[in-house]
Amino acid sequence: MATAEQIKSLIRSRFSDDSERFYSIALQVAAHEARQGHTALAHDIRDLIDAERKKKSPHIIAFPKNLQGLVLTEEPSTPITAMVTPNIIRERLNRVLHEYRQQGKLKSHGLRHRRKILLIGPPGTGKTMSAKVLANELHLQLHTIQVDRLVTKFMGETSAKLRQIFDLIQQEHGVYLFDEFDAIGGDRSLNNEVGEMRRVLNAFLQFIEQDTSDSLIIAATNNPNLLDRALFRRFDDVLYYENPEIEERKSLIANVLGTFIVSRFSWKQVLQESAGLSYSEIDHSCRDAIKNAILADRKKISAKQLLITIKERKGTHQGIRV
Ligand SMILES: Nc1ncnc2c1ncn2[C@@H]1O[C@H](COP(=O)(O)OP(=O)(O)OP(=O)(O)O)[C@@H](O)[C@H]1O
Ligand SMILES: [Mg+2]
Repeated sequence: MATAEQIKSLIRSRFSDDSERFYSIALQVAAHEARQGHTALAHDIRDLIDAERKKKSPHIIAFPKNLQGLVLTEEPSTPITAMVTPNIIRERLNRVLHEYRQQGKLKSHGLRHRRKILLIGPPGTGKTMSAKVLANELHLQLHTIQVDRLVTKFMGETSAKLRQIFDLIQQEHGVYLFDEFDAIGGDRSLNNEVGEMRRVLNAFLQFIEQDTSDSLIIAATNNPNLLDRALFRRFDDVLYYENPEIEERKSLIANVLGTFIVSRFSWKQVLQESAGLSYSEIDHSCRDAIKNAILADRKKISAKQLLITIKERKGTHQGIRV
C-alpha cells in the first residue's frame, strides 16, 4: 500500500495540475510496491502511467533533427548499490535523490530541489555512472549531450544548439548530462579560447542560470583547472571524485568478483598493487580475472590470479601515461 505521504502528494499534485509530479509520485508508489514484492501491481501502475504519458505527449523525445547524434538517450538500470563510493559522495547523491522526491514539499516553502550538479574527477571514477544511477533511481531517462561534438562540429552554431538543448530540458523532463564538459567550460581568461568559445561559455552560463525546469542537469569533467570560477556558482552542488582508497578498492573487488572470490583471499598484496588505479581499471582487472577463470573452467579466483590481471592493467595504464 502507498504511504500516507504518497497519497497526499498524489492528491496535491492532481489539484495543482502538476502532471509530471503526479507521474513521478505514481512511479514512486510502483517502486514501493515492487519492493514489497507486489510486482504485478507495480507493473500495472507503470503501464497505466506509460499509457497516459504517451497519450498526453506522443512526441516524447522527438528531438529536433539537427540535435540527433548530439544527444544520446537511454534508460539506465544501474542501481545505487552497484556504486562503491566514499560516504561523502554517497550522501551527496542521496541528498539529490531525496530533494528531488520531496520537491513538492520544498516548493510549498518557496524552495527548489538541488538539480544543477557539477561532477569533477579523474577518468574512471564514476561520474558518468553517477548520472546513470540518478536517472535509474528517479525512473527518468538519461540524455547525454556530447559536448565535444557540439563544440567542434558546429562551432559557429554552438550557441544556437545550446539554446535548443535548454528548450528540450524545459520540455522533456529527465536527467541531462553534459559530458566532457570542459569543451565548453574552458577558462574565459585563457587567450587561446577567445571569441567563439567565450560567447559559447557566456551563453551556457546564461542558459543554466535561467533554467527553471525540474530536470536534473549534470555536468562532468576531469579537468577542473580549465573551468572558470564563474561556472561553479551556477551549480547547486559540486562533487569531487577521486581514485579509490584502500577500503573502496576492497569493496569494489569483493563486489565485482562476487562468488568467484576464494574464501581465504589474501588481500594485502592485491590492495597494495591496485593503489593508484581508478575504479574503472580495477573493475576491468576483476572482469579479466573472471574471464580467465571461466575459460579455464575454474569456479574461484585467488589473489594471485587477480594480481596477474591487475599488473596487466597497470602496464597499460603506465603505457598510456608515458
Ligand atoms: N564508484 C564506482 N563504483 C563501481 N564501479 C565504478 C565506479 N566508478 C567507475 N566504475 C566502473 O567503471 C566504469 C566507468 O566509469 P565512469 O564511466 O562512470 O567513469 P567517469 O568518471 O565518467 O570517467 P571519464 O572521466 O573517463 O568519463 C563504470 O561503468 C563502472 O563499471
Ligand atoms: Mg564519463
